[in-house]
Amino acid sequence: MDSLEEVAQAVRDCADCPLHRGRTNAVPGEGSPWAELMFIGEGPGFHEDRQGRPFVGPAGQLLEGLLASIGTNRNDVFIANMVKCRPPDNRDPEPSEIAACKKYLDRQIELIDPKLIVTLGRFSLGRFFPGESITRARGKLREKDGRHIFPVLHPAAALRRPELRKTLVEDFRAIADILEADTLPETIAPEPEGEAPKGPPAEQLNIFGAPAAPPPKPPGNATEEPADAPAPEPPGRNDDPQQLSLL
Ligand code: URA
Ligand code: SF4
Repeated sequence: MDSLEEVAQAVRDCADCPLHRGRTNAVPGEGSPWAELMFIGEGPGFHEDRQGRPFVGPAGQLLEGLLASIGTNRNDVFIANMVKCRPPDNRDPEPSEIAACKKYLDRQIELIDPKLIVTLGRFSLGRFFPGESITRARGKLREKDGRHIFPVLHPAAALRRPELRKTLVEDFRAIADILEADTLPETIAPEPEGEAPKGPPAEQLNIFGAPAAPPPKPPGNATEEPADAPAPEPPGRNDDPQQLSLL
Protein backbone atom coordinates (compact mmCIF):
# COMPACT_ATOMS: atom_id res chain seq x y z
CA MET A 1 0.00 0.00 0.00
CA ASP A 2 2.07 2.86 -1.34
CA SER A 3 -0.53 5.62 -1.20
CA LEU A 4 -3.67 6.54 0.69
CA GLU A 5 -5.66 5.61 -2.38
CA GLU A 6 -4.11 2.15 -2.34
CA VAL A 7 -4.99 1.80 1.34
CA ALA A 8 -8.56 2.85 0.54
CA GLN A 9 -8.79 0.32 -2.28
CA ALA A 10 -7.42 -2.45 -0.07
CA VAL A 11 -10.03 -1.54 2.56
CA ARG A 12 -12.85 -1.66 0.02
CA ASP A 13 -11.68 -5.11 -1.09
CA CYS A 14 -11.05 -6.38 2.44
CA ALA A 15 -12.75 -9.43 3.92
CA ASP A 16 -10.30 -9.98 6.78
CA CYS A 17 -12.86 -9.81 9.57
CA PRO A 18 -16.59 -10.58 9.91
CA LEU A 19 -17.53 -6.89 9.67
CA HIS A 20 -17.17 -7.01 5.89
CA ARG A 21 -20.36 -9.05 5.69
CA GLY A 22 -22.64 -6.35 7.02
CA ARG A 23 -21.22 -3.35 5.25
CA THR A 24 -22.92 -1.33 2.56
CA ASN A 25 -19.71 0.62 2.00
CA ALA A 26 -16.35 0.38 3.66
CA VAL A 27 -15.19 3.70 5.14
CA PRO A 28 -11.45 4.00 4.60
CA GLY A 29 -11.14 7.59 5.85
CA GLU A 30 -10.59 10.84 4.02
CA GLY A 31 -8.94 14.22 4.06
CA SER A 32 -5.64 15.78 3.11
CA PRO A 33 -2.63 13.52 2.52
CA TRP A 34 -0.57 16.40 3.92
CA ALA A 35 -2.68 16.89 7.02
CA GLU A 36 -0.89 18.09 10.15
CA LEU A 37 -3.84 16.95 12.19
CA MET A 38 -5.26 13.43 12.03
CA PHE A 39 -8.41 12.30 13.84
CA ILE A 40 -9.11 8.70 14.73
CA GLY A 41 -12.66 7.68 15.57
CA GLU A 42 -14.11 4.32 16.44
CA GLY A 43 -15.91 2.97 13.40
CA PRO A 44 -18.57 3.83 10.84
CA GLY A 45 -22.16 4.27 11.93
CA PHE A 46 -25.34 4.13 9.86
CA HIS A 47 -24.71 7.25 7.79
CA GLU A 48 -21.03 6.52 7.25
CA ASP A 49 -21.86 3.00 6.04
CA ARG A 50 -24.39 4.45 3.60
CA GLN A 51 -22.03 7.06 2.20
CA GLY A 52 -18.64 5.37 2.56
CA ARG A 53 -17.35 8.50 4.32
CA PRO A 54 -16.30 9.04 7.94
CA PHE A 55 -18.21 11.26 10.37
CA VAL A 56 -21.08 12.35 8.14
CA GLY A 57 -23.89 11.77 10.67
CA PRO A 58 -24.78 13.81 13.77
CA ALA A 59 -21.41 13.17 15.44
CA GLY A 60 -19.79 14.32 12.21
CA GLN A 61 -21.78 17.55 12.27
CA LEU A 62 -20.52 18.24 15.74
CA LEU A 63 -16.97 17.38 14.66
CA GLU A 64 -17.27 19.81 11.74
CA GLY A 65 -18.45 22.52 14.11
CA LEU A 66 -15.48 21.86 16.37
CA LEU A 67 -13.10 22.01 13.41
CA ALA A 68 -14.66 25.30 12.33
CA SER A 69 -14.24 26.63 15.87
CA ILE A 70 -10.46 26.33 15.47
CA GLY A 71 -10.36 27.68 11.94
CA THR A 72 -9.99 24.45 10.02
CA ASN A 73 -12.22 21.99 8.19
CA ARG A 74 -12.40 18.37 7.14
CA ASN A 75 -10.51 18.93 3.88
CA ASP A 76 -7.41 20.14 5.70
CA VAL A 77 -7.25 17.34 8.27
CA PHE A 78 -7.47 13.58 7.88
CA ILE A 79 -10.31 11.64 9.50
CA ALA A 80 -10.03 7.89 9.98
CA ASN A 81 -11.46 5.17 12.17
CA MET A 82 -10.19 2.16 14.11
CA VAL A 83 -12.37 -0.21 12.06
CA LYS A 84 -13.35 0.60 8.50
CA CYS A 85 -16.63 -1.35 8.32
CA ARG A 86 -19.73 -0.71 10.38
CA PRO A 87 -20.31 -3.04 13.33
CA PRO A 88 -23.91 -4.36 13.25
CA ASP A 89 -26.34 -2.15 15.20
CA ASN A 90 -23.43 0.13 16.05
CA ARG A 91 -22.13 -2.34 18.62
CA ASP A 92 -18.60 -1.86 19.92
CA PRO A 93 -15.91 -3.29 17.66
CA GLU A 94 -14.42 -6.57 18.94
CA PRO A 95 -10.72 -6.67 19.81
CA SER A 96 -10.23 -9.23 17.01
CA GLU A 97 -11.85 -6.85 14.50
CA ILE A 98 -9.71 -3.95 15.66
CA ALA A 99 -6.64 -6.16 15.36
CA ALA A 100 -7.59 -7.31 11.83
CA CYS A 101 -8.09 -3.70 10.72
CA LYS A 102 -5.01 -2.24 12.41
CA LYS A 103 -2.78 -2.59 9.37
CA TYR A 104 -4.80 -0.02 7.43
CA LEU A 105 -4.78 2.60 10.14
CA ASP A 106 -1.08 1.98 10.79
CA ARG A 107 -0.29 2.57 7.12
CA GLN A 108 -2.48 5.69 6.98
CA ILE A 109 -0.60 7.13 9.95
CA GLU A 110 2.74 6.31 8.31
CA LEU A 111 1.78 7.85 4.96
CA ILE A 112 0.23 11.00 6.41
CA ASP A 113 2.83 11.37 9.15
CA PRO A 114 0.75 13.98 10.98
CA LYS A 115 2.16 16.38 13.52
CA LEU A 116 -0.60 15.57 15.93
CA ILE A 117 -2.99 12.64 16.24
CA VAL A 118 -6.27 13.36 18.01
CA THR A 119 -8.00 10.24 19.30
CA LEU A 120 -11.79 10.52 19.52
CA GLY A 121 -13.18 8.45 22.36
CA ARG A 122 -11.99 5.46 24.31
CA PHE A 123 -11.40 2.96 21.51
CA SER A 124 -8.88 5.02 19.67
CA LEU A 125 -7.31 6.12 22.97
CA GLY A 126 -6.84 2.39 23.58
CA ARG A 127 -4.83 2.00 20.41
CA PHE A 128 -2.09 4.12 21.91
CA PHE A 129 -2.70 3.78 25.63
CA PRO A 130 -4.47 0.49 26.31
CA GLY A 131 -6.55 0.31 29.44
CA GLU A 132 -6.52 4.03 30.19
CA SER A 133 -9.64 5.92 31.09
CA ILE A 134 -10.77 8.50 28.54
CA THR A 135 -12.09 10.68 31.32
CA ARG A 136 -8.65 10.89 32.85
CA ALA A 137 -6.64 10.94 29.64
CA ARG A 138 -8.54 13.54 27.63
CA GLY A 139 -7.12 16.99 27.10
CA LYS A 140 -3.50 16.07 27.78
CA LEU A 141 -0.77 15.96 25.20
CA ARG A 142 0.97 12.60 25.13
CA GLU A 143 3.78 10.95 23.25
CA LYS A 144 3.85 7.35 22.05
CA ASP A 145 6.24 5.65 19.64
CA GLY A 146 7.56 9.03 18.53
CA ARG A 147 4.10 10.42 17.79
CA HIS A 148 2.22 13.14 19.58
CA ILE A 149 -1.23 12.11 20.69
CA PHE A 150 -3.99 14.28 22.09
CA PRO A 151 -6.99 12.29 23.36
CA VAL A 152 -10.41 13.92 23.43
CA LEU A 153 -13.94 12.69 24.13
CA HIS A 154 -15.89 11.18 21.27
CA PRO A 155 -18.28 13.78 19.78
CA ALA A 156 -21.10 11.21 20.10
CA ALA A 157 -20.58 11.30 23.87
CA ALA A 158 -21.27 15.01 23.83
CA LEU A 159 -24.42 14.42 21.79
CA ARG A 160 -25.66 12.05 24.50
CA ARG A 161 -24.49 14.32 27.32
CA PRO A 162 -24.64 17.96 26.22
CA GLU A 163 -22.82 19.08 29.36
CA LEU A 164 -19.67 17.54 27.81
CA ARG A 165 -19.69 19.91 24.84
CA LYS A 166 -17.84 22.55 26.75
CA THR A 167 -15.04 20.09 27.47
CA LEU A 168 -14.77 19.23 23.77
CA VAL A 169 -14.69 22.89 22.77
CA GLU A 170 -11.93 23.53 25.32
CA ASP A 171 -9.95 20.52 24.15
CA PHE A 172 -10.19 21.66 20.53
CA ARG A 173 -8.94 25.07 21.56
CA ALA A 174 -5.97 23.28 23.13
CA ILE A 175 -5.39 21.41 19.85
CA ALA A 176 -5.18 24.74 18.01
CA ASP A 177 -2.75 26.06 20.61
CA ILE A 178 -0.56 22.97 20.24
CA LEU A 179 -0.43 23.32 16.46
CA GLU A 180 0.36 27.01 16.68
CA ALA A 181 3.07 26.67 19.30
CA ASP A 182 6.72 26.70 18.25
CA THR A 183 7.52 24.12 20.85
CA LEU A 184 5.27 21.52 22.29
CA PRO A 185 4.09 21.87 25.83
CA GLU A 186 5.32 19.19 28.15
CA THR A 187 3.87 15.80 27.44
CA ILE A 188 2.39 13.76 30.22
CA ALA A 189 4.10 10.49 31.07
CA PRO A 190 2.06 7.34 30.36
CA GLU A 191 -0.14 6.55 33.31
CA PRO A 192 0.13 2.80 33.88
CA GLU A 193 3.91 2.80 34.26
CA GLY A 194 3.41 5.30 37.05
CA GLU A 195 7.01 6.51 36.98
CA ALA A 196 7.84 10.03 37.98
CA PRO A 197 7.93 11.93 34.68
CA LYS A 198 11.40 12.71 33.45
CA GLY A 199 12.17 15.69 31.27
CA PRO A 200 11.40 14.50 27.73
CA PRO A 201 14.35 14.35 25.33
CA ALA A 202 14.74 17.61 23.44
CA GLU A 203 14.06 15.95 20.08
CA GLN A 204 10.55 15.15 21.26
CA LEU A 205 9.71 18.70 22.14
CA ASN A 206 9.27 20.26 18.79
CA ILE A 207 6.66 18.83 16.45
CA PHE A 208 7.69 21.16 13.66
CA GLY A 209 11.12 19.71 13.10
CA ALA A 210 12.72 23.01 14.14
CA PRO A 211 15.98 22.96 16.10
CA ALA A 212 15.67 21.64 19.60
CA ALA A 213 14.00 23.96 22.04
CA PRO A 214 15.74 25.35 25.13
CA PRO A 215 15.91 22.77 27.90
CA PRO A 216 12.48 22.04 29.33
CA LYS A 217 11.67 22.55 32.93
CA PRO A 218 10.87 19.21 34.49
CA PRO A 219 7.17 18.47 34.31
CA GLY A 220 7.10 17.50 37.93
CA ASN A 221 4.07 19.47 38.92
CA ALA A 222 1.77 18.54 36.07
CA THR A 223 -1.61 18.83 37.64
CA GLU A 224 -4.31 16.26 37.21
CA GLU A 225 -7.33 18.03 35.83
CA PRO A 226 -10.69 17.14 37.24
CA ALA A 227 -11.63 14.63 34.59
CA ASP A 228 -14.94 15.66 33.25
CA ALA A 229 -18.07 17.15 34.71
CA PRO A 230 -17.63 20.74 33.57
CA ALA A 231 -20.12 23.20 34.97
CA PRO A 232 -23.49 22.66 33.32
CA GLU A 233 -24.20 24.98 30.44
CA PRO A 234 -26.81 27.65 31.06
CA PRO A 235 -30.19 26.87 29.55
CA GLY A 236 -30.85 28.34 26.13
CA ARG A 237 -27.32 27.62 24.97
CA ASN A 238 -26.95 27.41 21.22
CA ASP A 239 -27.17 23.81 20.07
CA ASP A 240 -26.19 24.45 16.49
CA PRO A 241 -22.77 22.85 15.98
CA GLN A 242 -21.98 25.44 13.31
CA GLN A 243 -22.10 28.05 16.06
CA LEU A 244 -19.78 26.27 18.44
CA SER A 245 -17.09 28.85 17.97
CA LEU A 246 -19.41 31.28 19.68
CA LEU A 247 -19.63 29.27 22.87
N1 URA B 1 -18.35 7.66 14.92
C1 URA B 1 -17.12 7.21 14.66
O1 URA B 1 -16.39 6.79 15.55
N2 URA B 1 -16.70 7.25 13.40
C2 URA B 1 -17.42 7.70 12.39
O2 URA B 1 -16.95 7.71 11.27
C3 URA B 1 -18.72 8.18 12.69
C4 URA B 1 -19.17 8.15 13.95
FE1 SF4 C 1 -11.30 -5.53 6.66
FE2 SF4 C 1 -11.27 -3.68 8.57
FE3 SF4 C 1 -13.50 -4.07 7.20
FE4 SF4 C 1 -12.66 -5.91 8.93
S1 SF4 C 1 -13.32 -3.81 9.41
S2 SF4 C 1 -13.38 -6.31 6.86
S3 SF4 C 1 -10.43 -5.77 8.72
S4 SF4 C 1 -11.55 -3.30 6.38
